[in-house]
Amino acid sequence: MEEILKINNLSKKFNDIVVLDNLSLSVKKGEVVVIVGPSGCGKSTFLRCINGLEDIDEGEVLLDGEKVSRNKKNLSKTRERIGMVFQSYDLFPHKNILQNITLAPIKVKKRKKADAEEEALKLLDRVGLLSKKDSYPRQLSGGQKQRVAIIRALIMHPEVLLLDEITAALDPEMVREVLDVVLSLAKEGRTMLIVTHEMAFARAVADRLIFLEGGKIVEEGSPAEFFDNPKTERLKSFLQTFSYE
Ligand SMILES: Nc1ncnc2c1ncn2[C@@H]1O[C@H](COP(=O)(O)OP(=O)(O)OP(=O)(O)O)[C@@H](O)[C@H]1O
Ligand SMILES: [Mg+2]
Repeated sequence: MEEILKINNLSKKFNDIVVLDNLSLSVKKGEVVVIVGPSGCGKSTFLRCINGLEDIDEGEVLLDGEKVSRNKKNLSKTRERIGMVFQSYDLFPHKNILQNITLAPIKVKKRKKADAEEEALKLLDRVGLLSKKDSYPRQLSGGQKQRVAIIRALIMHPEVLLLDEITAALDPEMVREVLDVVLSLAKEGRTMLIVTHEMAFARAVADRLIFLEGGKIVEEGSPAEFFDNPKTERLKSFLQTFSYE
């Protein structure tokens, strides 16, 4: 498989505190990499550095062999190519669901309204929300809003999708419906980097898992290696804090 994303020796400090320490990671096209680690270990910062939301101090991020640039013009291009979904969905409250989804493709990608709407409706249908197209965000549940946020990223046709704890703010009964959408994206071969605390989901969705601590990759492996046969004491004790089966 061809390599789509490559991170070389990335380091990041906040006020002289090293948050990411010489991290390297290479992701193949269609691969799903799940990142886990204790709170504050730098997972969100790592994702933010990858799509240019955060400056990096050292190292480089390559997307399809091209360096992800800090240059303003290229940065918006980068964010189209590397989509990101967060814990808080941040939909525009005064726009309906269809408008929320089609805004960026029309404004940023200069797509025709009818064309963007056609795709938006297909995507809404796929996640079971076609009937909500004219609703406003306040009329949707958290899980429904998060599915809309995922569509909003997908409609930009990103080459890589970054998901940062997208179910962390949801009530438990809504987590499943969102994770099912992500599982279906994995099945269709989307390249994704996922930060999650849902260990059963992590195991199901990942091709590879990474345990981040102290700004470094402490351990990585396939789901079976990672969960059934962790090598480091740190990962063992981390996994023990979850009851994931
Ligand atoms: N803008 C910022 N300014 C200063 N320090 C920051 C900033 N953003 C993050 N940090 C610090 O960097 C470290 C890593 O934060 P980050 O949010 O990446 O952790 P995380 O692994 O995503 O944690 P969580 O699991 O709680 O979401 C933390 O110590 C945090 O306090
Ligand atoms: Mg985080």
